[in-house]
This record gives sequence, structure tokens and C-alpha cells, in this order.
Amino acid sequence: MEIDLVTDIKSDIEVEFIDSKSLKKHKQYKTLNLAGFSAEQDSICFLHEKSILVCGIESDSNDDIRSACSVAIKALKAANYKSASFNVNKSNTQAIVEGIILGGYEYNTYKSKPTKSKLKNVYLACEDIEKLKTTFEEAIIIAEATCFTRDIVNTIPEDLNPPTFADLAKNLAKDNGLKCEILGEKELRKEKMESMLAVGRASRHDSKLIHLTYKPKKKAKKVISLIGKGLTYDSGGLSLKPAASMVTMKMDKAGGCAVLGMIKAVSELKLDIELHVFIGAVENMLGGDAYKPDDVLVTRSGTTVEVRNTDAEGRLVLCDVLDYAQDKVKADYMFDFATLTGACMVALGQYTTGIMGHSSKLKHSFHAAASSSGELVGSLPFNKHLKTLLKSGIADISNVSSKPYGGAITAGLFLDKFIREENKDKWLHFDIAGSAYTETPWDCNVYGGTGAGVRFMSNFLQNISK
Ligand code: BES
Ligand code: ZN
Ligand code: ZN
Repeated sequence: MEIDLVTDIKSDIEVEFIDSKSLKKHKQYKTLNLAGFSAEQDSICFLHEKSILVCGIESDSNDDIRSACSVAIKALKAANYKSASFNVNKSNTQAIVEGIILGGYEYNTYKSKPTKSKLKNVYLACEDIEKLKTTFEEAIIIAEATCFTRDIVNTIPEDLNPPTFADLAKNLAKDNGLKCEILGEKELRKEKMESMLAVGRASRHDSKLIHLTYKPKKKAKKVISLIGKGLTYDSGGLSLKPAASMVTMKMDKAGGCAVLGMIKAVSELKLDIELHVFIGAVENMLGGDAYKPDDVLVTRSGTTVEVRNTDAEGRLVLCDVLDYAQDKVKADYMFDFATLTGACMVALGQYTTGIMGHSSKLKHSFHAAASSSGELVGSLPFNKHLKTLLKSGIADISNVSSKPYGGAITAGLFLDKFIREENKDKWLHFDIAGSAYTETPWDCNVYGGTGAGVRFMSNFLQNISK
């Protein structure tokens, strides 16, 4: 399916948006009324004889337009039209592009007979192409990077394991002119990343640390490090997950997939920033040589960690990768993305990414970036009482809290222990446990990986590179 910005419409069908207040004024009100259409948000009505698809919206906000577009594109893909058109303006172009690309996304790799859509062309009709061109092209780049992230998240653990993850990163680097460095287990041992290595020890796949770099042509305005949790499968390890909770755990690599999508977007947008991506690609399995509760791990930083639960493995990988990233790059900002805790979903619901960190100003920038890019974020506050719950009787810190509440925050506080004093205000942790994956469609998200983080991070990076 191709999307083009045009001035004259020659399509099989035209998509219209309407709210309930304007419904009575519609030329085809009688027919729409007979069909029972009341312009409710996300309801649609085909007027086949008039070549119109009418979509209900609650308001003309970008959130409502994006959601309505997602419903429209699914209906169009299921129908037999070859082309469709949407009217766009400067303020809704991004939302319409996202609705079409993200709402129309399908992952058919494992279907033996995928249904083929007849829809070949989607036209976005406007008055002046020049005025909208940049907005349109940037929206396409970001939406496609989001789909790239979704594709990797959706890939099954047999196909996407730490070595194949590293290969995929190498290919992206080749395609997009990035520098790529991969550390295997030998190098990880040399780097003293014993905590990350312990998590991956029982897997038949070698753990990998992936480091990609994008450098702009002009002098970089800022240097940024993005760190991603890349658990290609999280069985829980010896603290085995219950059967029902293990299903979907291929998505535990979504943080790593998100930061890959982000560097893809940044390199195609050609932003004037230097961007580093670090991914800890590991599989958490069981076996005779699995790491276990009661182990004490010596992390790269020298801090010792008592393992009380092998299912709290993400933080054990990230603590070493965060430490490595801080040595490798002196960054202006450092952001990590991880499907870190089920508790984040309990706190915020499954649609919202949790933000943690010390700088209120930086957190606020992400509230703004999320709201203008159509993602949901919520801040979870650190406090010293929750920090106390990570005390260990035998090591410097325990990998789990001693109390069952505030689990997303205590996980964030565990990571905080590995952030150096000079970087405290430069760092934020994003818990995407709920927002990265869905089994029921919502907004422009369909079954599977959502690509959470790619849109708001691209928006933030676009703003700081101006
Ligand atoms: N990968 C999980 C977190 C998760 C849960 C992500 C559900 C997405 C959906 C993480 O490694 C984990 O298992 N965390 C534990 C931590 C606990 C043992 C302290 C959790 O959330 O239960
Ligand atoms: Zn786990
Ligand atoms: Zn995990």
C-alpha cells in the first residue's frame, strides 16, 4: 500500500469525518440515519453508491482523528476498493498518517495464507503540497520506524534470539549508515558484566551487547544514549513464571526493539544529534547452570547484588549495560526503555508508559512530547522509603523489594543505584511493560507489539535538535 500527498483526488472512495453535532447537516443524513449511524467515535458507515466512507469522531482532536483513521483503514483493507482518499491539513496530517500506517499494520509472517488486501493507493488530498510535505514525510518516517519496532517485537523467540538480534542490528547499521559494535560473551566477561552474563547463562544462545552509533553530518547539538532491555525471552528462570504469565514474554525485548526503532527514525530524519543505542540482548532460561535465588552477583560497577528472584532479571541486565554506557559515552541525556515490571501496569494501566527519574523538568518534557505525538505517559515518583526496601542482608542491594507494593518504582530505584552522581539529572527510566504489547486493539495499536516509545522519543529528539 502506497501513501501519497496529492492536490487532485482520483480515488475509488473518499473518507469523511463527522461529529454528532454536524450529522444532521450531512447531505446523506437520511441514509446515515436509516443505517443507524450516529457519528459515535470509531463508528463508520459506508455509502457505497456515493463512494464515501463516513467516520464518526467525538472531536477533531488529533487523538480522535488518529483513532477514527485506524478504524477506517481496517474497513477499507477488508473491502474491495483499490484506492481511497483522505482530506488533510497542516494540523491533522501527522495523525492521519499514523492512523493509516499504524492502524493498518498487520504482521503476517507466520500465517500460511495471509489475506491480501485490494487497497493499493491511499491519497492524502491537500491544497498546497509544499506546505505539508515536511510534516508528511517526517510522519511517514516515524510511523514506519514504529512498524519496524513492532515487527521485531512480534518475531518469535526461536527466530529472534540474542545472536539474531545482533544480526538485525548489524543490517540496520548497514542500511542506515550507523556504526555497529557487538560484544559477545568473551568481551562481556572482559568487561566484568557478570550480572548480565548470569541472566543468560542457562540459554543455548550467547548473550550480546549491541552498540549502534549515529553521527550527524553537522556538529551534533546534543549527545544522547538510549539503553534497551532486550530479553528475547523471559521464562522467569528458576523463579519460573506461571504458565499463563509466560505467554507473550517474547515481548520482553521491546525496550531493545524500541531503541532500534528510535535510531532508525533519527538517522532517516537526519537530526543534528549524536545518538548511541545500547541493547542488552539476553534470554532468561532454566538449566543446570542457571543462576539462582541466593546467588550474589558482582556487577560491572563493583556493586554486589543478592538474587532473590530470577524473574527480576531485566534490572540485572540493565545495571551492567547502564554502567558500560556511562563509561563509553559522555551523554547530555540518558534514557532507558524496558518492559521491567508487571507492577507498572497495576499502577498506570496497560496503555501508559511509566516515567521515573530525578529531573522534574526532563519528565515534563516527555509529558509534552507524548501528548503531541499521541502516546500516553505517567510519572511514578521515587522516595527514600521505597529505596530502603531494596536493602540486602548479604550484598550491597537486593534485586527485589522486601514489600509487595510500589514494584515499578523499586525497580526504577534499583537502576538508579547504577546511575553516577553526575548523571542523575540526565537520566530517565521508561517502563513500557504495559504499553509495548497488546492482545486487544486500542487507538492505532493492533494485536502484538505497539512500538511504544518510538513516537514520543522521536518528537523529543526532533525538538532538542532544532
Ligand atoms: N518482564 C517482566 C515484566 C513484565 C510483566 C513485562 C508482564 C510485561 C508484562 C519482568 O522481568 C518481571 O518478571 N518482573 C517481575 C518482577 C518481580 C519478580 C519483582 C514482575 O513484574 O512480576
Ligand atoms: Zn522477569
Ligand atoms: Zn523480564
